[in-house]
Amino acid sequence: MKDKIISGFYKKNKQEKVEWLAEHYFANDPTLLAELQSFAHANQDLQKIFDGFSENTLANYYMPYGVAPNFLIDEQLYAVPMVIEESSVVAAAASAAKFWLQRGGFQTKIISTTKLGQLHFSWSGPSHELQAVFEDLKVVLRQDAAPITANMEKRGGGILDIELLDFTAVEADYYQLKVSFETCDSMGANFINSVLESFGATLRRFAATHPQLRSYPLEVIMAILSNYTPDCIVRAQVACPTELLDDACKDMDGPTFAEKFRKAVRIAQIDPFRATTHNKGIFNGVDAVILATGNDFRAIEAGGHAYAAASGQYKSLSDCKIEDGIFTVWLDFPLAVGTVGGLTKLHPLAKRSLELLGQPSAPQLMSIIAATGLAQNFAAVRSLVTTGIQKGHMKMHLMNILNFLAASDTEIKASQQHFEKETISFNAVRAYLEMLRSASVKSV
Ligand code: MEV
Repeated sequence: MKDKIISGFYKKNKQEKVEWLAEHYFANDPTLLAELQSFAHANQDLQKIFDGFSENTLANYYMPYGVAPNFLIDEQLYAVPMVIEESSVVAAAASAAKFWLQRGGFQTKIISTTKLGQLHFSWSGPSHELQAVFEDLKVVLRQDAAPITANMEKRGGGILDIELLDFTAVEADYYQLKVSFETCDSMGANFINSVLESFGATLRRFAATHPQLRSYPLEVIMAILSNYTPDCIVRAQVACPTELLDDACKDMDGPTFAEKFRKAVRIAQIDPFRATTHNKGIFNGVDAVILATGNDFRAIEAGGHAYAAASGQYKSLSDCKIEDGIFTVWLDFPLAVGTVGGLTKLHPLAKRSLELLGQPSAPQLMSIIAATGLAQNFAAVRSLVTTGIQKGHMKMHLMNILNFLAASDTEIKASQQHFEKETISFNAVRAYLEMLRSASVKSV
């Protein structure tokens, strides 16, 4: 085990890194280097950019870049770019988009765009002393951070508010500055963190010199944005009379389908086990667009799941109602995204995605992402309450199985035809291919 410990790995060049890994983890596999090199981009300048996104990069890890057309969102038609490896997701989004295209499309509303950050600190003096100087402190915090905020203010954003929160009842001496921000078209992580770190330095100095504070030590614990953004919310919705849902399913009329769908969403409101899977379906769509547009899917996942648990119980992020014969499904979603900064212009495909979407503002991108999440949710629940998901899922997965089993073009064609009517499973496909292959050997 000891020989696998290394320091300064990052100092090795790419080839040396791979050679070291080959020796220590791949039994000196002589093919490893060439294999990893085969994933490099032919354009070396571009490869340099990809390598720059991370540390210790060895190769590029490919993910499919697809598109779901026919998304009517707020009267505008979009082809939505999606990066995802799960075979049925883009097909499901495209099918839901087409379904709602004929029923008025997706309506969205930006409810708020405020982002949050926190400066955590401890101070052992009496809290009323801190409260008493807080208004003065706020002025100095803003003044000191002015060089960082000036540009954002020119774009219409900046610091919105600074609150002092007293947590000393639950943790001795612990306080927090909770700061709200408007970051316009950027996701704002760097901006927020820079402001908060400037606040940290100011607070330390302020406390060390202020006559009312300086007799007690103040310690800045940490300064960081919060990925929980319950004030950065978009609502996406689809609605139509239940009779217009007649062709949602072969075996049910529209009103029956609507009621079964409503119940399925209700179950995800009641039961966290179902809610988790239900929300995973929403994130299938959300994450795919987040990735395609160069945004941070971990931030969106963390914030989305925290929001789903905001009531104290983890619940469905979408909701459904039937009122006066109108079926409505909607989604309130926290989405702190950016259309400038980060990877958005650096990653060539993220750049193309934003071009495909008509260079949206961050709020417009929030709408597109929420609509895609809702489409995905509609498609998943529709399948679940009608045919079950395996039919569509395995149909899409058939190609993966065939590729895994190294099927030829002729075998693929024959298998696709055969499995139109048969249940698809790995074993069934393997057996069918074996049958095809032994039949062709016999005929030679
Ligand atoms: C699969 O990736 C997503 C679903 O499980 C979502 C759901 O159950 O609602 C189909």
